[in-house]
Amino acid sequence: MGIKSLVNIGDYNRDDIYRIIKSASRFKQNPDRDLLQGKICATLFFEPSTRTRLSFETAVNRLRGRIIGFSDSATSSSTKGESLKDTIMMVGNYADLIIMRHHLEGSARYASEISPIPVINAGDGSNQHPTQTMLDLFTIYETQGTLENLTITIVGDLKYGRTVHSLIHGLSHFNPTFNFVAPEELHIPDKYKTFCENHHISYREFTEFSPEAINSADILYMTRVQKERFTDLMEYEKVKNVYVLHNRMLHDSKEHLKVLHPLPRVKEINQDVDENPKAYYFEQAKNGMYTRQAIICDLMGIKDDGLMG
Ligand code: CP
Repeated sequence: MGIKSLVNIGDYNRDDIYRIIKSASRFKQNPDRDLLQGKICATLFFEPSTRTRLSFETAVNRLRGRIIGFSDSATSSSTKGESLKDTIMMVGNYADLIIMRHHLEGSARYASEISPIPVINAGDGSNQHPTQTMLDLFTIYETQGTLENLTITIVGDLKYGRTVHSLIHGLSHFNPTFNFVAPEELHIPDKYKTFCENHHISYREFTEFSPEAINSADILYMTRVQKERFTDLMEYEKVKNVYVLHNRMLHDSKEHLKVLHPLPRVKEINQDVDENPKAYYFEQAKNGMYTRQAIICDLMGIKDDGLMG
């Protein structure tokens, strides 16, 4: 059997998703454990990150594992022309697990195919961000009590947003209804619409951030317009502040609505939303730590009840 990695949220089926959610929930009750004693995890971040890298590193530290790696590719030998293949082969000789963020779509899949140790995709270009999706699913389950039959309104950069692309895949097991809110320039790519159609998932597209899109939702998932993905900055300037959520816009939303955002935010959620009990994005980011503890242990065959798998 090959090395087990997490590259794409499609690597997890429905049972896997529930298993990770249950484990993350146990880590949220009790995050400080000795489960990674003697293990070394490498965080290779070729692209900037705050939450993903720090929550992974905190997750490992709280489990008594150790961390090596870099947070800026400028400090690695990739700046001297070293290939991704050689980097992965080297780190695979040093560590027990690789956690990698890279700007190239498919880089995580490639790394997982050549690595002698498991690889976790911490974001590959505008493709996938599966651990973000797992923490999103954990948070949705925590706040709604279910993953089934929910209406999810996703707002912002649906073209380049890897968290959006992964979330559509991750929720596909649970009969969601999607409202996609995006300007023409950033609308959801056809391949995700085809995916929805093939999985009998209902969706509507909006170009206006309308009351209907907000008030019909169980989850309002805001996203940032990602400047770093634009080749033409004039195009970015046209759409950068296209939708801004203000507190007053939540007045007629469902009682149990939660506002999520993978973060970082720029201006798309006004700070007056932060005090609203429906704002859940900081708790969502905190859940990343517990979810990543669950994912790491699962990949390494370590049961979170303390027994080795
Ligand atoms: N959500 C997320 O991926 O945040 P960072 O870019 O800060 O890791």
